[in-house]
Amino acid sequence: MAKKQAWVHSSHPRWPSYLFFLIVALSVFSLVAILIYKVDNFASQTKTIVGHNLEPTPWHLFEPKNFTDESRHIRAYKIIQCSYLTCPYAAADGGAQPSELEKRRGLVSSRTPPKCPTFFKFIYRDLEPWFNTRISMDQITQAKEHAAFRIVIVEGKLFVDLYYACVQSRMMFTLWGILQLLKKYPGMVPDVDIMFDCMDKPSIERNRFGNGSLPVPLFRYCTTEAHLDIPFPDWSFWGWSEVNIKPWDEQFKEIKQGSRTQTWAKKIKRAYWKGNPDVQSPIRTELMRCNDSSLWGTEIIRQNWTEEAKAGYERSKLSNQCKHRYKIYAEGYAWSVSLKYILSCGSLPLIISPQYEDFFSRALIPKLNYWPVSSIDVCRSIKFAVDWGNSNPYQAQAIGKRAQQLMQSMSMDQVYHYMFHLISEYAKLQDFKPVPPPSAQQVCEESMLCFADEKQKELLKKSAVTSVSTTPPCTLTRSPNPNFFTAWAEKTQKIIDEVKDMENRTNAAIT
Ligand SMILES: *[C@@H]1O[C@H](CO)[C@@H](O)[C@H](O)[C@H]1NC(C)=O
Ligand SMILES: *[C@@H]1O[C@H](CO)[C@@H](O)[C@H](O)[C@H]1NC(C)=O
Ligand SMILES: *[C@@H]1O[C@H](CO)[C@@H](O)[C@H](O)[C@H]1NC(C)=O
Ligand SMILES: *[C@@H]1O[C@H](CO)[C@@H](O)[C@H](O)[C@H]1NC(C)=O
Ligand SMILES: *[C@@H]1O[C@H](CO)[C@@H](O)[C@H](O)[C@H]1NC(C)=O
Repeated sequence: MAKKQAWVHSSHPRWPSYLFFLIVALSVFSLVAILIYKVDNFASQTKTIVGHNLEPTPWHLFEPKNFTDESRHIRAYKIIQCSYLTCPYAAADGGAQPSELEKRRGLVSSRTPPKCPTFFKFIYRDLEPWFNTRISMDQITQAKEHAAFRIVIVEGKLFVDLYYACVQSRMMFTLWGILQLLKKYPGMVPDVDIMFDCMDKPSIERNRFGNGSLPVPLFRYCTTEAHLDIPFPDWSFWGWSEVNIKPWDEQFKEIKQGSRTQTWAKKIKRAYWKGNPDVQSPIRTELMRCNDSSLWGTEIIRQNWTEEAKAGYERSKLSNQCKHRYKIYAEGYAWSVSLKYILSCGSLPLIISPQYEDFFSRALIPKLNYWPVSSIDVCRSIKFAVDWGNSNPYQAQAIGKRAQQLMQSMSMDQVYHYMFHLISEYAKLQDFKPVPPPSAQQVCEESMLCFADEKQKELLKKSAVTSVSTTPPCTLTRSPNPNFFTAWAEKTQKIIDEVKDMENRTNAAIT
């Protein structure tokens, strides 16, 4: 060996160190180049919860995010760092020690939880199509056609398989909500496999199923009478970074405080709506025509989010929008997240006959906690409600108060109870053992924070569950008899008809 080296040295006295350096440099360079290429290539195929390498949902197109503010390598590094290298090294929350879990469970079961509110019974109506046939892997696969992502929970760990991008940061905040549920009730959320669509319009039509074809299960934020989509709490409960909406508990407190700035007597005796009418919503278009405070007792303000953002959202603050005695709710492209903020004002909510249901709107009872407004001749119907309220101020105020109390009881704790029971009941119907598909990635709090921008980070941290629940979720009463839901719908319709009848008689008397 030594001899050979000596020979090399002696025969090429000047070359070797130069050659050696050159070869090393070349190899390092090509290795780095290959590595960068591979990393870039790998990153450019990795789908992320913020929408990298994902197309918008074909059933609801929107302008995709660009990600052009970072250089390609920084982006690639971030994708790999956040997607693959964060959760494995994160504090193993989902994998708490079994003995620890047993202890917690012991603690949990020693307290007696209260009964869940009545509207939780709708979990049974939403899952009813699968009671007899149960849910097979085949049905899950069919639901994929309508899904933006798939959520698989196994032993308290959350995995997602991504198919399409979601508009804005809906996906991030929805997944964050599920991670918080897992944190609040460790060891209690069952293994589950869920197809989720994060866009607005329900897509699973009830009448497509029945003669032999099995219903497909799909979670989304809202549904209708004619659809089977399973409603789940929307992302804004944890925050909505794009329009500066805070996590729900904090947002509610602010609105309630804002609502107290004027007494009922001091509140403006007119109906108020502020929002974006350009969302392909016939009812909002119709509503624009009611903008006449002397003729219809109504004020309509167009919200331009581009301008609101420029003005630092000062004018769009929800807590400053409780100055009127009557607050109008009009559905947007589908249901609207604004419902919870409108109900929180303590004003009399005037709800224009809604078509969509979200998970908590089943707690609404006409004349008890809102006033039903007809979508036909909407201005006249609003005017009728305003006149009624102005002649019955105590009753109007009491309805407004009950709406606010309803939303106060709809705290994040209750939202988690709902999520817990919905997921648990759904999991009972699965006739297979959930396994994350090979293309799924684990997500954890740290990976969400890794992808989040500053504003999102702030909201995520604010909405984080800070400790394990010391009490179990509320107790869900047994599945009600099927008549419960028809009776409920009939009762609601009867009250709406009574109001409409009053309206008709008043209008007949005027004309
Ligand atoms: C993304 O980039 C394209 C082309 O550069 C541009 O037309 C589009 O407006 C950008 N979209 C967003 C959301 O910034
Ligand atoms: C069920 O049967 C009816 C009548 O034959 C048919 O029109 C309908 O398309 C069928 N539905 C499905 C989902 O196949
Ligand atoms: C409604 O009328 C008020 C007062 O005339 C006006 O300031 C406002 O811009 C109108 N709103 C819409 C949406 O046109
Ligand atoms: C909203 O405001 C922006 C900026 O002022 C303007 O360019 C845009 O046309 C406005 N949009 C609507 C629908 O009025
Ligand atoms: C009220 O009047 C409308 C239009 O005339 C009619 O269609 C509706 O059935 C009436 N409703 C009630 C409850 O009387």
